[in-house]
Amino acid sequence: MGYEDLRDWLDQVARFGELLRLNGADWNLEIGGLCDIIVRETKKNVPAILFDEVRGYPKGMRALFGTQSSLKRLALTVGLPLEYDSMMDFVKAFHHKIRTLETVPPVMVNTGPVTQNVMEGDQVDLYKFPVPFHHELDGGRYFGTAHVVLTQHPDDGWYNLGTYRCMVHDKSTLGLHISAGKHGRIHRDIYFERGQPMKVVVATGTDPALYLAASTEIPWGVPEYDYAGGLKGEPIRVMRGPYTGFPIPASAEIVVEGECYPGELKDEGPFGEWAGYYANRGLEKVPEPVIHVKRIMYRTDPILTCAQPSRPPHEYSFSRSIVRSGLLWDELEKAGVPDIKGVWCHEAGGSRLFTIVSIKQRYPGHARQAGILASQVHSGAYVGRYVVVVDEDIDPSNTYDDLWAIATRSDPERSIEILRRCWSSSADPALPVDQKLFNSRCIIDACRPYEWKDKFYPVAETSSEFRAKLLKKWGDEILEGV
Ligand SMILES: Cc1cc2nc3c(=O)[nH]c(=O)nc-3n(C[C@H](O)[C@H](O)[C@H](O)COP(=O)(O)O)c2cc1C
Repeated sequence: MGYEDLRDWLDQVARFGELLRLNGADWNLEIGGLCDIIVRETKKNVPAILFDEVRGYPKGMRALFGTQSSLKRLALTVGLPLEYDSMMDFVKAFHHKIRTLETVPPVMVNTGPVTQNVMEGDQVDLYKFPVPFHHELDGGRYFGTAHVVLTQHPDDGWYNLGTYRCMVHDKSTLGLHISAGKHGRIHRDIYFERGQPMKVVVATGTDPALYLAASTEIPWGVPEYDYAGGLKGEPIRVMRGPYTGFPIPASAEIVVEGECYPGELKDEGPFGEWAGYYANRGLEKVPEPVIHVKRIMYRTDPILTCAQPSRPPHEYSFSRSIVRSGLLWDELEKAGVPDIKGVWCHEAGGSRLFTIVSIKQRYPGHARQAGILASQVHSGAYVGRYVVVVDEDIDPSNTYDDLWAIATRSDPERSIEILRRCWSSSADPALPVDQKLFNSRCIIDACRPYEWKDKFYPVAETSSEFRAKLLKKWGDEILEGV
């Protein structure tokens, strides 16, 4: 189908009936609360939710949640057909797409819709936008949640785009929280180690493919602009940011340009995180670098895109599971693991803490290789915890079957490996506040034991051939229940 920018994408979403418009909500807790209720309790597809006429704001100043919370919208974002029979079918299609992805570099244009309105110097005012205060225990209003943060490597010159949360301190400063090991954090550390300021761009309401690329673990040095262009099948349009000189997304809804200074820290948070907790330091504030905003450009009637981390399933946990499953599958293949049949990064673990890989066992040690690599390749390494390897007859996205495989094919004494001192994060809820450096990994080999897999006990079930015969004879209506 294709789309030009967020607005065009949104029009298409409205046409296929997945856009919910809500007028009159309060930015202070009501938007966040409504979003939680809709995401957790909607019986059908979770819609994208567009808030307008937010309390205290003129009509047109909008906030958008849930952009990627359905298969159809995710498919539209990454340029795939919109209909799938199952979640694993979509993961397979996405995996195929990224395995064969040809990146497309951005095109430089002179100007774009984002220049329609400008605030500079004393006019800068982040409160101009209906920035939500998400949850009761949060420490502030978050301008940047479903956005991209652009930084430049001071030596190599490459630009990194990452989604790193930005809290509003006042009308012209933002807090910037980037976890250790993230590419933007490595950029920042290099500037600050040298005592140099770091220029930064925060763009919200970008092309959905760009947000997806920025919030995804793409390897070090790979430009997210090119990756997003590859997903869309056409280049992202960028223009020079007047303050930073960075290539900024020309069709974004709002672009903030600013600078962080070494040694300057201000209390940030707390903010609910992807695993479902305030895990950084509980409800304590934590000193983080500050972005001094020099310039804001925005489209007329701008749309602030938002994401709401909370107890899963949350506003973006679904899309993270699918995207990470496809990425991890790709990285495992590239690391040399053959015959992978499926990967599922479970939503309950925020797509990081509980991963299942299904393989057709080909040789002794194949299952351990798959499990250990899944816990260590780039897209699986950050705050992983459990990796379960299952045989090819298990659909990894079927939790019941995963648990059945663990319960019936593994034996703890031979099936479990523990890796120690792995890449963790301040967001790891299983670690106490003062011990956030490392965590461990548990690899569970829930495959039939390799040595006697061909003699493993037969599964007691109706064969698929006989099932098909029965359905033909008795009709599908027997499945409708009584
Ligand atoms: C909605 C959302 C919010 C996120 N917030 C943060 C954050 O505040 N800090 C952080 O380090 N990573 C955050 N992440 C994860 C990073 O965006 C992700 O790991 C990404 O790969 C980082 O880019 P990088 O690999 O170029 O460092 C967030 C992801 C999403 C989807």
